[in-house]
Amino acid sequence: MPSVNASNISKIFNEENNSEPIQALTDVSLHIDDNEFVSIIGPSGCGKSTFLMMIAGLETPTKGKVTLDGEVIDGPNGSQSIVFQEYLLFPWKTVKQNIEFGPVLKHESRSSFRHTCESLMELVGLTEFANHYPHELSGGMKQRVAIARALACKPKVLLMDEPFGSLDALTREMLQTELQNIWLKTRCMVLFVTHSISEAIFLADRVVVMSKRPGSIKKIVPIDLERPRTRDMHTGAAFKEYEQILKEAVWEEVTA
Ligand SMILES: Nc1ncnc2c1ncn2[C@@H]1O[C@H](COP(=O)(O)OP(=O)(O)O)[C@@H](O)[C@H]1O
Ligand SMILES: [Mg+2]
Repeated sequence: MPSVNASNISKIFNEENNSEPIQALTDVSLHIDDNEFVSIIGPSGCGKSTFLMMIAGLETPTKGKVTLDGEVIDGPNGSQSIVFQEYLLFPWKTVKQNIEFGPVLKHESRSSFRHTCESLMELVGLTEFANHYPHELSGGMKQRVAIARALACKPKVLLMDEPFGSLDALTREMLQTELQNIWLKTRCMVLFVTHSISEAIFLADRVVVMSKRPGSIKKIVPIDLERPRTRDMHTGAAFKEYEQILKEAVWEEVTA
């Protein structure tokens, strides 16, 4: 079963060049199981993106190691997909071509990926926009394409770095529900970085709170709310309690 394991990760930037060394992470250990949705919150600059980049194989730890299925991650290998806040779609490709990009790059045969990509397009509600270009889409639609494109590669782990950060509040809430529905169907491992505490709770099985830089894990809160989660849960006592606990934890770090 796929799992990600980070053990005693530290990261220092600028060790080799002449600028001031920056310690981004210190002694981070985290195990994520298959089918798990984990949200990460923490103050700005505490190393959340750096941690995600290590799982993506785009940064290497200075100390410690990160493994995927027991193998040390030493580069992107097709098991990881990332969705960023900026949509990063190819402007010259249509919705369909953007979604098919990963499988095409992997030289999969069209017959093998056609069905997957069509289902994904349907899952994110973009079938009728298949031949549209990114500039013809709203922000929410672009991010739906980015999610479908990430899933088209059938990743073992989906890494999401503040994916809904630039959307308006209403679109953001809609996409949270859609992402949950997609995840309930695909159940791939997700690591989701966000600044929004309620978003972190709404989506996750566990919320990880990171300390201020150099980032370490301050607290892990399992979210015991039944699925599918619904909008009205936001006002429930349990949700409010999680919010309070997490707000306190982040606030301590921001004001430390
Ligand atoms: N490539 C890099 N070179 C030098 N410093 C970096 C680099 N990437 C990130 N940092 C620094 O590491 C710290 C953590 O950054 P980051 O992981 O982006 O934080 P977060 O995503 O939590 O806001 C910050 O101080 C940032 O300036
Ligand atoms: Mg970041």
